[in-house]
Amino acid sequence: MAERSAPVGVMDSGVGGLSVLAEIQRLLPNETLLYVADCGHVPYGEKTPDYIRERCRRIAGFFREQGAKALVLACNTATVAAAADLRELYPNWPLVGMEPAVKPAAAATRSGVVGVLATTGTLQSAKFAALLDRFASDVLVITQPCPGLVELIETGDLCSPTLRQMLWGYVEPLLAAGCDTLILGCTHYPFLRPLLAGMVPPEVAIIDTGAAVARQLQRLLGNNGLLAAGPAQATRFWTSADPSSLKKILPVLWHKSDDVQSFAM
Ligand code: DGL
Repeated sequence: MAERSAPVGVMDSGVGGLSVLAEIQRLLPNETLLYVADCGHVPYGEKTPDYIRERCRRIAGFFREQGAKALVLACNTATVAAAADLRELYPNWPLVGMEPAVKPAAAATRSGVVGVLATTGTLQSAKFAALLDRFASDVLVITQPCPGLVELIETGDLCSPTLRQMLWGYVEPLLAAGCDTLILGCTHYPFLRPLLAGMVPPEVAIIDTGAAVARQLQRLLGNNGLLAAGPAQATRFWTSADPSSLKKILPVLWHKSDDVQSFAM
């Protein structure tokens, strides 16, 4: 049985999960957090499900060794590829995955047209198709894979002319089709929210699921008697690429430059 003071492991293909980590830290300041950025293998969006499952197994195994009491897959693409596999491997380990916010978007749209920006892997998955069947039968959902965006965000680029042009190329057809609600279905994209908000008309709602994931983690830890009483220890970071690269962009995407170690698995 894990201790309440044990850490929570949070992972993503790269820096995208930091958008979720921030929500977790805001809601659960007593929790000690560990973060693995699989930057040596980013982007997951263009990899096979088998490849992603193998990466997630390694990272989950590492968090188990670190004594993590729960795992957050702060990545939509990893969730569709690996959540079921990890739940089977570790049936008693609290795991929170994430999925594009189709349900709230379908409830919120007034035009009846919703756009989803996500990775190719997420949009092509059976899990996403099931999500649409379940919650979006009354609305038109237009999906837009966004290859290239994640790679730019990984460099800390949140607003260069190249990035703006790429983002507009993905968003413009959705607006032209009448979308009044845009789902950010990849954890990297919330970092583009300020840029995106300046690009779309003010009545277009932009929705992501970071805060909902933090609330789900809170519920799960609570149900298992695992909510920490605090104080939290400093967040620790690992990356499967060069630690100095992550260290450089942490101050841009995270509020401070914490210690970054190498995850050589
Ligand atoms: N951040 C990830 C997601 O939420 C995946 C990005 C990628 O590696 O392609 O889907």
